Amino acid sequence: MAYSNKVIDHYENPRNVGSFDKDDASVATGMVGAPACGDVMKLQIKVNAEGIIEDAKFKTYGCGSAIASSSLVTEWVKGKSLAEAQQISNTDIAQELALPPVKIHCSILAEDAIKAAIADYKQKHGG
Ligand code: FES
Ligand code: FES
Repeated sequence: MAYSNKVIDHYENPRNVGSFDKDDASVATGMVGAPACGDVMKLQIKVNAEGIIEDAKFKTYGCGSAIASSSLVTEWVKGKSLAEAQQISNTDIAQELALPPVKIHCSILAEDAIKAAIADYKQKHGG
C-alpha cells in the first residue's frame, strides 16, 4: 500500500509526541483503542481559562496512519475552543492525509481520542 507524503511526513516527524501531567487541572486525557487492530491512542489537551486548547500531546501505539492521524489532530486542535475541536471529524483527517479505505479506522481513532479528551475535560470541570 502506498502511503501519502503527508502520512509519511507525520510518521517520520510526529508533532507533539509526549504527555502532560494528568493531575494538572487544565489537562484532559482521551484514551481509545481500535477494536479492528488493537492499536491504542492517548491524546491530551491543555485548556486555558478561556476554554481554548493551548497545547496538545499524543502517544500512539499503532500503525503509521494512526500516528499520522493523531499527530495531525494535535496540530489542528491548538488554538481551538472545545466546541470547535469537537467538530473535527475522521473524514477531515482521512481527506487531509489521503488515507486509503482500509486505514479509515485509524482516523476514526483520532476523532474518538479528541472527543474522549473533550469529554474528560467537561467531566473534570463539571460540564
Ligand atoms: Fe494496527 Fe497495524 S494493524 S498497527
Ligand atoms: Fe489500526 Fe491503523 S491499522 S489504527
